[in-house]
Amino acid sequence: MSMPTAEVPFEIVHKWQEIVNIIAEIIHVPSALVMKVEPPNIKVFVSSESHSNPYESNELAPLNTGLYCETVMKTRQSLLVPDALRDKEWKSNPDIKLGMISYLGFPVSWPDGQIFGTICVLDRKENSYSELYRKFVLQCRDVLEADLRALARLSGELTRSEAYLEEAQRLSHTGSFGWRVSTGEIVWSKESFRIFGYDNSLAVTLDMVIQRVHPEDRALVQRTLERASKEGKDFDDEYRLLMPDGSIKHVHVVAHAVRDHADELEFIGAVMDVTEARRVEEQMHQARAELAHVARVTTLGELTAAIAHEINQPLAAVVTGGRASLRWLAHEPPNLEETRSSVEDIIDSGIRAGEVISRLRAMMKKSPAQRELLNINDAILAVIALVSAEAQRNRVILRTELSNDLPLVRGDRIQLQQVILNLIMNAIEAMRGIDQTQREVFVVSRKDGFKGALVEVQDSGPGLEGLAIDRLFDAFYTTKPDGMGIGLAVSRTIIESHGGQLRALPSVPKGAVFQFRLPTNAEVIE
Ligand SMILES: Nc1ncnc2c1ncn2[C@@H]1O[C@H](COP(=O)(O)OP(=O)(O)O)[C@@H](O)[C@H]1O
Ligand SMILES: [Mg+2]
Repeated sequence: MSMPTAEVPFEIVHKWQEIVNIIAEIIHVPSALVMKVEPPNIKVFVSSESHSNPYESNELAPLNTGLYCETVMKTRQSLLVPDALRDKEWKSNPDIKLGMISYLGFPVSWPDGQIFGTICVLDRKENSYSELYRKFVLQCRDVLEADLRALARLSGELTRSEAYLEEAQRLSHTGSFGWRVSTGEIVWSKESFRIFGYDNSLAVTLDMVIQRVHPEDRALVQRTLERASKEGKDFDDEYRLLMPDGSIKHVHVVAHAVRDHADELEFIGAVMDVTEARRVEEQMHQARAELAHVARVTTLGELTAAIAHEINQPLAAVVTGGRASLRWLAHEPPNLEETRSSVEDIIDSGIRAGEVISRLRAMMKKSPAQRELLNINDAILAVIALVSAEAQRNRVILRTELSNDLPLVRGDRIQLQQVILNLIMNAIEAMRGIDQTQREVFVVSRKDGFKGALVEVQDSGPGLEGLAIDRLFDAFYTTKPDGMGIGLAVSRTIIESHGGQLRALPSVPKGAVFQFRLPTNAEVIE
């Protein structure tokens, strides 16, 4: 658990400095030292600030040269040399050159037993260091080791919490970063390196970040970064990365601006890989579009009988017109005036039939959502043209009151037509059980506030009483024996994706109103 490489923090170094100062003063020696082994050297870690002490803190001496301390570390035993000049074994050790002929030292270890170094005292004269002094230095050694224990525990905890953090970042696909604007210095967590696909031995630069951004998003990112560094404001962005293998990642970046102690601007933030979330969203979006298409085709299917009838009428008119033309031509001389008028009728009827078919075809088509500026009245009229025959068949009177000062809305024409179609069909279906003279659907459009459009489809049916109002818009909620229950669910999704709202209200004196509002400045759109 200990880390022989753990940095000893400044406060502890300071405390140890005090300890060696006191040792030197109490024992009356020129040098009291804490030595630290840093292979291939041994370093003077702290040296007493005593008079005529030849050792300087941070000085290095090579190992394997017969130093006193080396023996202490090797044997892990205390060493006492009262007078090296009179000791065969110690006569030629390097400390003698500095005049240090006596030595008392103890090993200092990390809690796991690895050697940190030594604590020792040295003297220029012969010195056997009394029993009391030895005990004193030994006590100080124990203080040092207690500090190392605390240090090892802290760094162990730190390593562990770093490991947890790293694991959490990996699992959540979220990396962290720091960006010091003045120096351009950037630090990344491992997960940030992984997300951007760089080797974590590289020093991160802003260029590396920009390099990875998808070319289409690059200008945007550059602008954000410029603005952020100029104004010192937080930023929150989503953009794409283009990876070297050609794959695309979506990242969400959030950064918080802070000022460091020197009042320098720094951003601290997180970068989250949201590729998977975007993919699921895209799939859901497709599934919804699929469902909307099915719902539309189903609804149109219900209309087939009425629509066939509506096409048959102009076709019959074409045939009648053709026969009439032939008759006028058979006159002697041919009546060209009447013939021309019959042919014009034929053309009109042909156009009318063609329009019904192309409207129907447009709505059957499965096309990706398209946003255009449109007048919602045009959408209403197109739907009315499709359902009027069905309304007649059901003895329903269909009335409209369309405002002519409607603001344009931005939206998908087919989708909005589908909503209107769903609402009108529901209204027609709701009135099947009531008296034939009472069946009325009223479609209204008007301005909503300053810049919105509002559409209402009101009927004189049984209303919503007794229905689970909060479930009407749930998918597959239906009270009809052959109902699918997705019309309102799809409609609400469509309106909300246009930034609007769709709701149901009771109507006065009876019936139901389905109402939707659309903002005109809706840029909210997927
Ligand atoms: N105009 C209306 N009047 C009364 N009830 C309605 C009206 N429109 C919808 N509902 C109720 O909401 C339910 C769900 O409608 P919808 O989602 O279009 O599915 P479906 O029409 O297939 O039943 C209907 O079954 C009906 O009970
Ligand atoms: Mg329906």
